Amino acid sequence: MGKSATTIRFAAVGDLHVTKDSAGTLRAFFAQAAEAPDPLLLCGHLPDDGSAEEAQVLAEELGAVAIPIVAVLGNHDYQSAVPEKVIAVLKQAGVRVLDGEVCEIEGVGIAGVKGFAGGFGRGSLGAWGEPAIKQFVQEALNEAMKLESALAKLRMPRRIALLHYSPIVGTVEGEPVDIFPFLGSSRLEEPLLRYPVDAVFHGHAHRGTLEARTINGVPVYNVAKPLLARSRPGQPPFRLVELPREVSRERSDAAEVGP
Ligand SMILES: [Fe+2]
Ligand SMILES: [Fe+2]
Repeated sequence: MGKSATTIRFAAVGDLHVTKDSAGTLRAFFAQAAEAPDPLLLCGHLPDDGSAEEAQVLAEELGAVAIPIVAVLGNHDYQSAVPEKVIAVLKQAGVRVLDGEVCEIEGVGIAGVKGFAGGFGRGSLGAWGEPAIKQFVQEALNEAMKLESALAKLRMPRRIALLHYSPIVGTVEGEPVDIFPFLGSSRLEEPLLRYPVDAVFHGHAHRGTLEARTINGVPVYNVAKPLLARSRPGQPPFRLVELPREVSRERSDAAEVGP
């Protein structure tokens, strides 16, 4: 698939859960994903245990990918309490890791943040009661503020958001309802209403739903690799989405294309 003059293509996947045993197992997958000529987006859960050693395995698997790679971390990436080392290893491999930052590729602005949990809509946990509850909710608010600050910096007409946690309930449906509050937060949707984007990508919900929309109609893609593998047998487990290079009136004209 060659570079398109009329569209920008994104290959997106999350939840790679790379372990030391993954060495040599992902190169063909990444090579296939990188056939799309524009960026490869990674939506967190990269090393499984969040260690620098597993991040190094991923870095080596990504070694042959020639297109830009943009990533956010997920909660697993904090498990070994060395996210700065994970980031350093990935950056060394040429991956742009966004944590409230932005980048521009092919004229498309990308805002990236991990996000956090807390629940959706009326089920959202409120900042009330014990200090620990307030601290938990504050973390969700902090991540939402990071997303908003990043989105506010994007001045280009084409914009996307890269997350690990879901900003909407629609793409976690399919998971046990009991764990919805741990899969994302509506607080992440609020900045997307103030600063609309063309598409949102996230992972984390391995048994969720492939695609849904924000209140303002922006397509949200759950690109958790286990979900893609299970939902689309026979297709490689990454999502290929394209945006027209020309901006039309409607923001939500992202479309999936066949890999
Ligand atoms: Fe995961
Ligand atoms: Fe996660």
